[in-house]
Amino acid sequence: MTEIAPAGPVRGTVEVPGDKSISHRALLLNALATGSARVRGLLRGEDVLRSLAAVRALGVQVDDDGTELVVHGTGKLVEPDDVIDCGNSGTTTRLLVGILAAEPFFSVLTGDGSLRGRPMGRVVAPLRSLGARIDGRGDGTRCPLAIRGGGLRRGDHVLPVASAQVKTALLLAGRREGASVREPGVSRDHTERMLARMGAGLTVHDGGTHLVLEPVERLDPLDVDVPRDLSSAAFWLVAASILPGSSLRLPRVLVNPTRAGVIDALQAMGAAVQVRPIEAAGAEPVADLEVTAAPLRGTRIAGDLALRCLDELPVLAVAAAFADGDTEIRDAEELRVKESDRIARVCVGLRALGVEVEELPDGMIVRGGRPTGPARIDARGDHRLAMAFAVAGCAAPGGVRIDGSEGVATSYPGFWTDLSRLRA
Ligand code: S3P
Repeated sequence: MTEIAPAGPVRGTVEVPGDKSISHRALLLNALATGSARVRGLLRGEDVLRSLAAVRALGVQVDDDGTELVVHGTGKLVEPDDVIDCGNSGTTTRLLVGILAAEPFFSVLTGDGSLRGRPMGRVVAPLRSLGARIDGRGDGTRCPLAIRGGGLRRGDHVLPVASAQVKTALLLAGRREGASVREPGVSRDHTERMLARMGAGLTVHDGGTHLVLEPVERLDPLDVDVPRDLSSAAFWLVAASILPGSSLRLPRVLVNPTRAGVIDALQAMGAAVQVRPIEAAGAEPVADLEVTAAPLRGTRIAGDLALRCLDELPVLAVAAAFADGDTEIRDAEELRVKESDRIARVCVGLRALGVEVEELPDGMIVRGGRPTGPARIDARGDHRLAMAFAVAGCAAPGGVRIDGSEGVATSYPGFWTDLSRLRA
């Protein structure tokens, strides 16, 4: 349990940790390469450490001096001698299912209670259609999943839901035979950017919604300097916006357009967020961010914008609670199958803070005003809920008490330390 008392402004510089999506991919994609790749700025969150342990369990040597990791890919994985525990990490699980579906050996993936409740059929069904033998609870729709891979056909997939994890899994499963993947919207494109730099024949069509991967002979190792995570920066963008007198600088943050919807949404609400692009050697756009407090107004977050800020919607709902007027969040049904049902849990939490909120199947309408508190919030171990409500607690007169707050280590282990430092 963590208690957050209301406080004054947040000020200073905050170096948020490395991007979670890119950290996973830096390990998992380089594990498939032939040669050694250096990775700097890796997020040392629990989810990424699961990917690191998995890569090692698959026979890939990874040296780690605490600052830099070197992944020594040999172009070959070996059968793991135990079950791979993916913990809370959906990205580790789904990307690994794709990777392992193409490997001619037996492997089993499982995870914690939250992960075992998350849908896996969306990746298992298309892989089965290519000839992968995958079994699991609920006819392969839930972990544990048992995989006997290899001998796949070339895939031609049309995804019903835009998902970077599923898209990536299908591209990685198709690394030997090739694959075509179409999705209804453009999900985050880190995999495409990295695979292209690793020498894969990957072409992007129809505004990013259709990817074609040619059979890959060998992947070159790719050095990665991981930019900082905009999803983690989002908590500070909102905290600084709603706490009068605040002023924060967030250096070297990833601003990939498929991820940067939170900046667009906050700016539409009147937030004073400045984006100063900087030179970065890697595949991704990076910027220094600056934010000062500003009065917020309600907005509408739907369609493509909702997809580009899906992970940040809980903290955007908190921003909406402190804004003038209503904020409507739509087209975000995927939020119900994240680490928790984030639509339901955000509505419960906001109501506990005295905020009027209408729950919708695919989102919510938050009636802005002044949340009151004190409130007791159960984050159910969901990292993004714990951090979003910590931000609310800083600005709500009565503060909040958060149960299940230990979950922040999933993506932002230093969050509580940064919070106390910035409020001091
Ligand atoms: C991720 C993709 C997103 C996101 C998740 C990380 C990734 O999920 O919510 O936190 O690294 O590929 P989708 O698979 O729904 O796009």
